Amino acid sequence: MIIKSYVGDYKADFFSDFSFLNELKEKKNKFFILDKQVFLIYKAELLSVIQESSYYLLDAIEQNKNIDTALEIIRQMVEMDSKRNTLLVAIGGGIVQDVSAFIANVLYRGISWILIPTTLLAQTDSCIGSKSSLNFKGYKNLLGYFYPPMQIYINTKFIHTLDRKDYLSGLGEIMKCAIMAGYESFLSTSQNMGALLECNEDVLLDEITKALCFKKQVIEMDEFDRDYRNIMNFGHTFGHALEAASDYAVPHGQGVSIGMLIANQISFQRGYISERMIEELNGAIERIITPGLIEKEYFSGEKYLEIMKKDKKYTGKLHTCILFEGDGVKRHSDIRDEEIVSAIEKICR
Ligand SMILES: NC(=O)c1ccc[n+]([C@@H]2O[C@H](COP(=O)([O-])OP(=O)(O)OC[C@H]3O[C@@H](n4cnc5c(N)ncnc54)[C@H](O)[C@@H]3O)[C@@H](O)[C@H]2O)c1
Repeated sequence: MIIKSYVGDYKADFFSDFSFLNELKEKKNKFFILDKQVFLIYKAELLSVIQESSYYLLDAIEQNKNIDTALEIIRQMVEMDSKRNTLLVAIGGGIVQDVSAFIANVLYRGISWILIPTTLLAQTDSCIGSKSSLNFKGYKNLLGYFYPPMQIYINTKFIHTLDRKDYLSGLGEIMKCAIMAGYESFLSTSQNMGALLECNEDVLLDEITKALCFKKQVIEMDEFDRDYRNIMNFGHTFGHALEAASDYAVPHGQGVSIGMLIANQISFQRGYISERMIEELNGAIERIITPGLIEKEYFSGEKYLEIMKKDKKYTGKLHTCILFEGDGVKRHSDIRDEEIVSAIEKICR
């Protein structure tokens, strides 16, 4: 798959084994940023390619996705004599990706980088779209720009060692794209859900490809998120608030799933969708939410609104969010506090 970008077109290739490492071995002047957990699990496979290079092991927790971590890695890279021709290789999920993209973008005003996404969420969503994001002063994804890798290697074998909550988190992004792509697409993904929940690799690869194809057509129209691309934030306004309210115990994609439940409830309250439709949509989404993960205490309406007002998309008295309407999603910038509180109460029940 080739993704068009103003920065430079880039490629995503699919594998069901580690053969892509042979291609990577040939590249010169590599510096690796590795998810610590991934390194421990896949040491045998990865050692052959990293042994003669320098690397940084990143503890992939949301609290480390910040400017201090980025500066520490940059400091190490400069001390290890990295130059403008250094090739940064990021191996990990969305956290490693966000930090690596930021570094690749700012170091020497831009160095080439390669991405090997190891989570379902990163393979199915974040790996394309060029965004880099760091959290700052309690605000999520406040710092960043758009800087795509030159190449993405997607190996679905990585998925099998994910924690269940992180696997379900990726299914949240798959479901998001399926819903946004229209009713037929939602139905076909819902029918595949049994196989997806069992981690069936063929079905998984089909659904990853389908989600990436959908995202590709959106980002190629609006790479810099000025207008149309905003629709990809379906479920995110509420999802980010839930992530923060739980101090990131709720992973991103699970936040997005709950966020979609709340958004659909608001659509229903506004008469944009029928009772049958909300039951169908939310019934399918509920299947991919980790039982017991979402504690009721995360859902205090007041806490939620307070966090949402910190969101970078909140600019006035009303909230902006993406709602399902008819057979697709649209942006609405007139969501009132009371609508959100009443939707959250309904979802909690
Ligand atoms: N840049 C973007 O476009 C974009 C889009 C969506 C989300 N994000 C960001 O991505 C982050 C979430 O990323 P994520 O869900 O991919 O995961 P993550 O990077 O948060 O990792 C989740 C956990 O999985 C572990 N892990 C990673 N790969 C593994 C593997 N193969 N086997 C076992 N464990 C593994 C990690 O060590 C970590 O404990 C959030 O910060 C979110 O804001 C960025």
